[in-house]
Amino acid sequence: MDSDHQQAKHVAIIMDGNGRWAKRKHLPRLMGHQRGVEAVRKLVRSVEDMGIDCLTLYAFSSENWKRPEDEVGDLMDLLRKFIKSDLPEFIAHDVRLKIIGDYKSLAPDIVAQLEDALEQTSKGSRILAVALNYGSHDEIVRAANAASAEGAITAEGLEKHLDTADMPPLDLLIRTSGEVRLSNFLLWQCAYAEMSFVDVLWPDFTPEHLQAELDNFAVRERRYGAR
Ligand code: IPE
Ligand code: IPE
Ligand code: MG
Repeated sequence: MDSDHQQAKHVAIIMDGNGRWAKRKHLPRLMGHQRGVEAVRKLVRSVEDMGIDCLTLYAFSSENWKRPEDEVGDLMDLLRKFIKSDLPEFIAHDVRLKIIGDYKSLAPDIVAQLEDALEQTSKGSRILAVALNYGSHDEIVRAANAASAEGAITAEGLEKHLDTADMPPLDLLIRTSGEVRLSNFLLWQCAYAEMSFVDVLWPDFTPEHLQAELDNFAVRERRYGAR
């Protein structure tokens, strides 16, 4: 990679479009979510070779509780299964799991499973951050309360209390499914992130799609307000 090319270190993805994927195929919504998990698995396996230090995935928002109970239950079951089946692979591949969002208010068995996974992967060097019961407004309010306990709030002071505090700055945000909105994801962290809205439904999103996004990112000029 020459000096005009930059490597994205932290990439975040809003994994959207499972429902529409299933609908187009006349399949139950659950199958869209199942295929969505498959897409996650393939991506996590492939990022090892892409030079990314931190991959953040939006899996369940603080607003997704508004969905029908059945669907929320299905998503939680998929989460349970995913952690159970993929934890050994994370450990073997030097992945450090991180959770962003208010995960402690998920079901107690999931919280226990997640905490065990956090502990078991704590020595890993590549971060896989999963956003669970995550909403930026909630995150910023929690951080602001913690920061105000230390005196007048500053940007640096608040940032230290965000769920992403020990992660590299966000370089690239990708949303699949063609929707062009952030849906309460990483609002603070997106201040100078590059963004890409991809017209592919999440279950169809492959490592090749991600590589194409990284190639586009590599030649973007980032200015941060300077010239
Ligand atoms: C993303 O797919 C998965 C979650 C939000 C959990 P959706 O379920 O939002 O799929 P669409 O947007 O209805 O197609
Ligand atoms: C954002 O997608 C949340 C996740 C991908 C987990 P949604 O499908 O919930 O967002 P909206 O409702 O279309 O904005
Ligand atoms: Mg959606």
